[in-house]
Amino acid sequence: MTERTHKTVEQAEQEGKYIRKVRSFVKREGRLTNAQARALELHWQTMGLDHHKNVIDPSAVFNNDNPVVLEIGFGMGKSLVEMAKNAPELNFIGIEVHKPGVGACIALAQEEGIKNLRVYEHDAIEILADCIPDASITTVQLFFPDPWHKKKHHKRRIVSPEFVETIRQKLKIGGVFHMATDWENYAECMLEDMQASAGYKNLSENNDFVPRPDSRPLTKFENRGQRLGHGVWDLQFQRVD
Ligand SMILES: C[S@@+](CC[C@H](N)C(=O)[O-])C[C@H]1O[C@@H](n2cnc3c(N)ncnc32)[C@H](O)[C@@H]1O
Repeated sequence: MTERTHKTVEQAEQEGKYIRKVRSFVKREGRLTNAQARALELHWQTMGLDHHKNVIDPSAVFNNDNPVVLEIGFGMGKSLVEMAKNAPELNFIGIEVHKPGVGACIALAQEEGIKNLRVYEHDAIEILADCIPDASITTVQLFFPDPWHKKKHHKRRIVSPEFVETIRQKLKIGGVFHMATDWENYAECMLEDMQASAGYKNLSENNDFVPRPDSRPLTKFENRGQRLGHGVWDLQFQRVD
């Protein structure tokens, strides 16, 4: 689980760790249910990955060379577990900062007997910088990231030119970055950042959004968006360089 190994940002930076100053989340200290706490206690050893252990070797983590799907901000993990269950030929790594969500995801994965899923409880930006090897991921998924509606908060949005370049580096050539959002302005900003970023090819026929792929289960936030009458925009870009 997350360990505080640095006292200050300056100290961490001196040690070569990446520490971000504007974060895409506000840490909600929601209470763990008994089931979530038990799942973390019993199964962290087998399903959890720790930030402080630095760069991972995915083949060693999963004991095979299957392609790796990385999901950022999986919430309670329901759709991630469903995807892992539907695709035993793939390995899945989930990153989420909200501890109850990580506990819920592990509990559900155990219930379903999932073996091809590992999770981090940490800021994805730091995990990408410190733990994920370059050119190691086949698909990166970012589904319904916090939209930070107000203009003054747009700097908190996880998608930025810097972020999409980091994702490109983590993808294998031919790998795909898949994003979905139900917030139109965020969808437009995502498209702008992706189109301005060299080394990606848009998989959309019209050079904008793609139809919702069947492989993406309905997520909790998408369900909520649908009830509120929101549209949904999916983007898929392939790393070509
Ligand atoms: C709006 S929710 C969407 C959850 C899920 N993907 C879904 O569609 O139901 C966004 C999630 O991203 C997580 N998150 C935000 N910034 C993050 C970061 N930098 N690293 C890891 N998780 C993050 C939040 O804790 C939250 O659970």
